[in-house]
Amino acid sequence: MAGTDRPILIAPSVLPADFSRLGEEVIALEKAGVDRIQWDVMDGRFVPNLTFGPDVIASTRDLVTVPFEAHLMVEQPDEPALRYVEAGCSLLIVHAEACTHLHRTLGHIAELGATAAVALNPSTPPEAIRHVLDLVGLVLVMTVNPGFGGQAYIATMEPKIRTIRNWIVEGGYDIDLEVDGGIGPTTAAGATAAGANVLVAGSALFRDPAGLKHATDEIRAVGTEAARS
Ligand code: DX5
Repeated sequence: MAGTDRPILIAPSVLPADFSRLGEEVIALEKAGVDRIQWDVMDGRFVPNLTFGPDVIASTRDLVTVPFEAHLMVEQPDEPALRYVEAGCSLLIVHAEACTHLHRTLGHIAELGATAAVALNPSTPPEAIRHVLDLVGLVLVMTVNPGFGGQAYIATMEPKIRTIRNWIVEGGYDIDLEVDGGIGPTTAAGATAAGANVLVAGSALFRDPAGLKHATDEIRAVGTEAARS
């Protein structure tokens, strides 16, 4: 079983954006036609980088209407979760590797009124999330090691993507399968052919000389064609 009939969505990471003009960048992303915006939240402990707090996200919330998702690359995310919901994130992605009690954490996020989602680092087997599929609206398969943008896509993640997509279909779950890291016009096809339907891209969008809309449209088109093949 390959691909997916779910819509192929583009969720840009703002990690490569110009942080001195974050509001303008978020507005430009919405104008480019992205489906939602991903905030790469990093605590300097789970990953060796430090990025956005909830107040930064909240400062841009009312500038656009596209949904915000928080990719919490954060140790023990239960404590700060509420602040990211209050900042305007409707979907919270926690890492299976960062939660002592993942099942409880995902239930907590749902109680906060957000969609719960779980991410897997490249070395983490898919079995780590098999018993929480009933609690999530999205699974994120990392296609780089988290912490920095601009890394190379790890194609050996594609069998993991395919396995999880098959579990989703077999279980009849309404779950999006997202990939993040090194996603662009030359890698999106491999990811969607394996079953991913939400593409997180940072560098490929912000570095496209033809602009954000061109990059968004191109990656969505390449991903859609491969997903349906
Ligand atoms: C890694 C980050 C990156 C970022 C997108 O922790 O999550 O994957 O979102 O990076 P690129 O530039 O590879 O699209």
